[in-house]
Amino acid sequence: MNKKKALITGITGQDGSYLAEFLLNKKYIVHGIKRKSSSYNSARIDNIYQNKKYKNKFFLHYGDLIDAASVSEIINKIKPDEIYNLAAQSHVGVSFKLPNYTTQVNAIGTLNILDAIKKLNLEKKTKFYQASTSELFGKIQEKKQSEKTKFYPKSPYASSKLFAYWITKNYRESYNIFASNGILFNHESPRRGETFVTRKITMGISKIINGLDNCIYLGNIYSLRDWGHAKDYVEMCWKVLQNKKSDDFIIATEKQYSVKFFIEKSFQYLGIKISWVGKGLKEKALIKNFNKEKFPNLKKGMIVVRIDKKHFRPNDVDNLIGDSSKAKKILNWKSKTSIYELIKEMMDHDLKLFKKKDFKF
Ligand code: NAP
Ligand code: GDD
Repeated sequence: MNKKKALITGITGQDGSYLAEFLLNKKYIVHGIKRKSSSYNSARIDNIYQNKKYKNKFFLHYGDLIDAASVSEIINKIKPDEIYNLAAQSHVGVSFKLPNYTTQVNAIGTLNILDAIKKLNLEKKTKFYQASTSELFGKIQEKKQSEKTKFYPKSPYASSKLFAYWITKNYRESYNIFASNGILFNHESPRRGETFVTRKITMGISKIINGLDNCIYLGNIYSLRDWGHAKDYVEMCWKVLQNKKSDDFIIATEKQYSVKFFIEKSFQYLGIKISWVGKGLKEKALIKNFNKEKFPNLKKGMIVVRIDKKHFRPNDVDNLIGDSSKAKKILNWKSKTSIYELIKEMMDHDLKLFKKKDFKF
């Protein structure tokens, strides 16, 4: 029986919740670091916490990556075999408003963990996974981005993650810690944070259909992304730490779509056709064809997407697509979920969410 202990930072987030489920199914004892917040932040892991099957296998600890003492104390208490550092101020747009805080959490927070491993003499015991990101490529230097592509971060978020990427490598090379970077391209799911673009779209459409809202307001809809499914990607985080040696890997689907495509296909999944009119800030999407009986809250010509300049970033990353040949070869990586399956799962989830008669914002 596997008695391995894993510590997940960011356990209440999208990836943390999927990774916790994945590791528990692999018979790990899973520990997570949870922040104190004034409102409820554990919705994604309630199903685990309340499941009797995971009694004495799943533990939560209050802590904050910025608080080095709390991080070190938790690591010392658990002495984990594997640490997955998924905690971050993960919103690129918000990082322009909160550059200092973003840097504290994403950059110094990562250093706090690595330094605890070193100071607690756990170099030989504890493997470390760092949630690196395709945002590192920013202003892209190659059409498809691989482990060899030069980085060019374009936001405080990406700059903070650049430090985290390098300090991970640095602790690997200086202190012989098994410390690896998973450079993950965008991955989504029904658990995706509500302010990221895919979830904004699937939630927005679901609210409109249910008569709870009229229109979705977005920024750069011409941005191109390589979108996978979070559930597939957390398996790769684990595989990165099971590799013979610590290394850095790109995880991507190698397919690219625009935000505009994601909007069209999400409506299309419901049999609703939209048409686009106008340009720039005046561009909008209108309802063209739909089944009136199925969707009584819709009207032909109704404007369902508008552009709002407040959702544009000072410097946007508008063209990402990964080359994950290395992970395919070494980690046996295969992207499992198509964009259409991803849209279906997110739409089905959100339609159900907003169908509840007693739903209140
Ligand atoms: P997410 O849903 O935003 O989750 C972030 C997690 O970090 C949450 O549990 C959050 O806690 C926690 N956190 C934030 N600040 C913290 C702090 N100071 N101390 C302790 N915990 C803190 O992010 P995600 O989508 O799961 O992404 C996971 C990681 O992968 C992040 O590091 C992200 O930057 C990186 N990444 C994500 C993608 C992607 O497409 N999803 C791609 C590449 C890399 P609360 O719940 O309390 O807010
Ligand atoms: N969030 C958001 N909201 N993005 C919008 C909107 C909007 O209203 N309108 C257009 N976009 C565009 C953004 O400008 C960006 O080009 C693209 O949609 C994707 O935005 P997000 O969904 O916020 O994701 P991201 O790519 O910036 O960042 C995510 O992926 C990174 C990996 O590349 C986050 O999960 C990061 O933590 C992660 O590192």
